[in-house]
Amino acid sequence: MFKRFRRLRTNDTIRNLTRETVLTPNDFMYPLFVKEGKFEKFEIASMPGVFQMDIDAVVQECGDMINLGLTSVLLFAIPEVKDSVGSECLCDHSLISRTIKAIKAKYPQMYIVTDLCFCEYTDHGHCGIMDPKTQSVDNDATLEISAQQAIVHAKAGADMIAPSGMMDGIIEVLREALDKEGFINLPIMSYSTKFASAFYGPFRDVAESTPSFGDRRTYQMDVGNRLEAIEESLEDERQGADILMVKPALSFLDTIRDIRNNTNLPIAAYNVSGEYAMLKLAGQHGLIDYDRVMMEKLLSMKRAGANIIITYHAKEACKLLKEQ
Ligand code: PBG
Repeated sequence: MFKRFRRLRTNDTIRNLTRETVLTPNDFMYPLFVKEGKFEKFEIASMPGVFQMDIDAVVQECGDMINLGLTSVLLFAIPEVKDSVGSECLCDHSLISRTIKAIKAKYPQMYIVTDLCFCEYTDHGHCGIMDPKTQSVDNDATLEISAQQAIVHAKAGADMIAPSGMMDGIIEVLREALDKEGFINLPIMSYSTKFASAFYGPFRDVAESTPSFGDRRTYQMDVGNRLEAIEESLEDERQGADILMVKPALSFLDTIRDIRNNTNLPIAAYNVSGEYAMLKLAGQHGLIDYDRVMMEKLLSMKRAGANIIITYHAKEACKLLKEQ
């Protein structure tokens, strides 16, 4: 006799009892964008529901998040002044430092992860110091200022540092710098496998970080490379990363699973801006059942092997989970 799979699908109770993967608010990390100034917040045209905020609005947003059961934020800062080396983020009075302190003053329980990169801070929009000869980012010079930026974040009270620039050797350099300053217990979440993806378009509107020339293909990964994707993450594990990441998530679920099968570290999946924007617009046009597609998409990332899902949908998803 053949097997009857339908026996375990007959009603909600048995479906709930046998479900393998479920989402909870603990799965999500919510990205927030702080911008210098006093303006409250601006919605980003390409990402409905996502805002550039001033410091006060970010603090208020953290209050809303806590009410929904969301307790971790991935923080990006957009400074007023940009220059060739991103000096703004290298001083203790940087926008991100002031924001971390303001959040912690009101909501000490909010877990703050800081994105460590230079594209938001440089006038050319690349993720580090440019080498004029190659017209590309100078890897080792960027490592030095990355260590400085990490210490600025740590001193301001960040709970975790997340380097996103795809510089070789960065985890080792950051670990050493943090340890030397006494931050031995501050974890590093590496954007370890980050592809040179077309899905970051809307983010670059929010973060004002579109490169003024060229692209990021000399430092971010080629989207066709499955084996190198595993190597990238395993190398960061060897250098001391505490959490690995795959970014983007949706077109790279195979990569999340490949890395899951090769490491015992926690893995984060970054459900990026383009993935969010596509769904939003399809929902607004009535082409899909937005809520259900969103949950299915987030679940696919967890099922692929992610422990943490970084997503602009975090608040919406938590609201839905509460209603269930
Ligand atoms: C770099 C960074 C990027 C994103 C997060 N960190 C953009 C890039 O590499 O151009 C993209 C996130 C998204 O698209 O949602 N600091």
